[in-house]
Amino acid sequence: MCGIFGYVNYLVEKNRGEILSTMLDGMQRLEYRGYDSAGIAIDGDKYNEVRLFKEVGKVSALRKLIDASELDTTKTFLSHVGIAHTRWATHGQPSRINAHPHRSDPDNEFVIVHNGIITNYRELKALLTSKGFVFETETDTECIAKLCKYVYDMNKHRNLDFNELAKLILVELQGAYGLLLKSVHYPNEVIGTRKGSPLLIGVKTEKKLKVDFVDVEFPDFTEMTIDAGDSSAASSNLLGVPVAGSDLRRSQSRAFVSEDGMPVPAEFFFASDPSAVVEHTKKVLYLEDDDIAHIYDGELHIHRVRREEGQPTFRSIQTLEMELNEIMKGNFDHFMQKEIFEQPESVVNTMRGRIDFEKKTVTLGGLSAYLNTIRRCRRIIMIACGTSYHSCMATRAIFEELTEIPIAVELASDFLDRKSPVFRDDTCVFVSQSGETADTMLALQYCIERGALTVGIVNSVGSSISRQTDCGVHINAGPEIGVASTKAYTSQYVALTMMALSLSDDRISMRSRRHAIIDGLSQISQQIEEVLSLNGRIKEMAETDLINQKSLLLLGRGYQHATALEGALKIKEISYMHSEGVLAGELKHGVLALVDEDLPIIVLATHDSLFPKVMSSVEQVIARSGNPILICNKNETSLGKFSKTYRTLEVPATVDCLQGLLNVIPLQLMSYWLAVKKGFDVDFPRNLAKAVTVE
Ligand code: F6R
Repeated sequence: MCGIFGYVNYLVEKNRGEILSTMLDGMQRLEYRGYDSAGIAIDGDKYNEVRLFKEVGKVSALRKLIDASELDTTKTFLSHVGIAHTRWATHGQPSRINAHPHRSDPDNEFVIVHNGIITNYRELKALLTSKGFVFETETDTECIAKLCKYVYDMNKHRNLDFNELAKLILVELQGAYGLLLKSVHYPNEVIGTRKGSPLLIGVKTEKKLKVDFVDVEFPDFTEMTIDAGDSSAASSNLLGVPVAGSDLRRSQSRAFVSEDGMPVPAEFFFASDPSAVVEHTKKVLYLEDDDIAHIYDGELHIHRVRREEGQPTFRSIQTLEMELNEIMKGNFDHFMQKEIFEQPESVVNTMRGRIDFEKKTVTLGGLSAYLNTIRRCRRIIMIACGTSYHSCMATRAIFEELTEIPIAVELASDFLDRKSPVFRDDTCVFVSQSGETADTMLALQYCIERGALTVGIVNSVGSSISRQTDCGVHINAGPEIGVASTKAYTSQYVALTMMALSLSDDRISMRSRRHAIIDGLSQISQQIEEVLSLNGRIKEMAETDLINQKSLLLLGRGYQHATALEGALKIKEISYMHSEGVLAGELKHGVLALVDEDLPIIVLATHDSLFPKVMSSVEQVIARSGNPILICNKNETSLGKFSKTYRTLEVPATVDCLQGLLNVIPLQLMSYWLAVKKGFDVDFPRNLAKAVTVE
């Protein structure tokens, strides 16, 4: 949860207005990660003064607060460090005081923004309270700021540099964090570090730089060397864990420096995800867990919290492929609407270069070296949360049919709660849009520890899941900003289907089925386009039939069970209407009691082998005076004796296992229009955030 953003200008003169606008725009791009409050720390007018501005609500509210303040926006800074945060509350209710940045003391000696959860904050708080610190917020984060001051004051005589101080602090923290640290004691310096929460650094400079003693033009360099870590700071000192040593010698880190050792004007952007930096630079470095990025004198140094043998000692500089227009709304009113309408294109992007529709072959480069291992595995376990879990549900049957490998589909949290047995010959597939979801990440660690082969099906390139799995497939849906997942679902669905096709391409008996699915995929984009033309009808239906209802039931069976679950989730999360996806076969085992002439029911009744059974559920509903809306195929002739009384939404027909890709779209549109008509904030539904990086 939460978005963090940092901006450093070094020898690049900016006035305060420009600095603020860079930071507030960056925060706004991260707002989908959390939006209950926002805050910023920048330099004040006096030497070594740090000013904090915090406000409840979205970044626009913070912008207003700053605009109304007495800040002189014309004041110029040759070098400056600003840190910022947009919050999704975990500890302490959304309020100005609980908003980040948090501070060590009223003089703001250390200020910090944090994404994640510090699980031992109670112990740290107790220790710091006993040392005279007075806590002003209910957050876990505040203890980090206070800890900085405490450790700094204790070690004043040692003249620690900022990175050495950070190491002493980080070994005390348990839990997950992406954090930025700024201090009056280290002007124009910043520390950025992560463990279990994402953080990347974008770098922008025109000059020729020297990296790791190799001369390169900045835009071309590919990696930098980091220091191996300082073993002396490897264990906790404050909470009673023995300390390995006390020699805090300066680390031998490498940095971006100029060829001739002269200072290089540069701008650095820290962010929780690349959408916040892409308008400034496409050159980014993703930090790994336990990396400490330290910027001073315009140089970026990467250190490690602890020394670990065998860890790679370089970090790649990646070039973002994302374009700015991909993260703008364009002509749409909401990101969710834009993303729904992008699906004809995003599913093609998922397949691009991977399916040869003429030869009817599927090639997934990220899996090819592992295909035989997967084919021989004992079982495939698909693990995910929320919508990503539904894409696993939607494709389970086709995996089973094509590969004949036992498939389990697991909700990450439940899988961990049960401590489900995992073996070396299992293949565990982690499906995630963000690639950062905490429950899915923890399940991944769990499976890595047990020696299973791990596969990532991820949208965010460079995310933790994509980096920590053995192999995988990027779904290439493009940035998804709307909190309610739409195009990521259809692209996950396509990517998983391609994985099943790829795993079964050695099976002669499956050839005609595989070919039919590949043919189906070749038409899918155009068919999605066709379904999107129902938009006006669905808007009207939402407005006239559903808006005043309290509850909505979605019935589906076989391939359409997942569609019912996903449709219900979409409706709940943005229109706040209670909605339940029910397996049609379960109707008579209890849910039927809810049915009367008022309860709206949508039935997924497209034509597949289970269609007669679905229609028998429809008849059961009608017999209880129910009045269902049917999502059915165009020109369906077998709707039975009540066919004249149904309201229908007609979608084109495709292969049974792909039909869910089409059927889900009216439900995405329905949820969208319900939310719009009710006046809700479609892209930022209450209490939710895009990337759930806490358990
Ligand atoms: C619903 C939604 C969530 C996510 C879930 C997993 O619209 O977006 O249910 O699907 O939080 O997130 P990822 O896919 O990022 O792991």
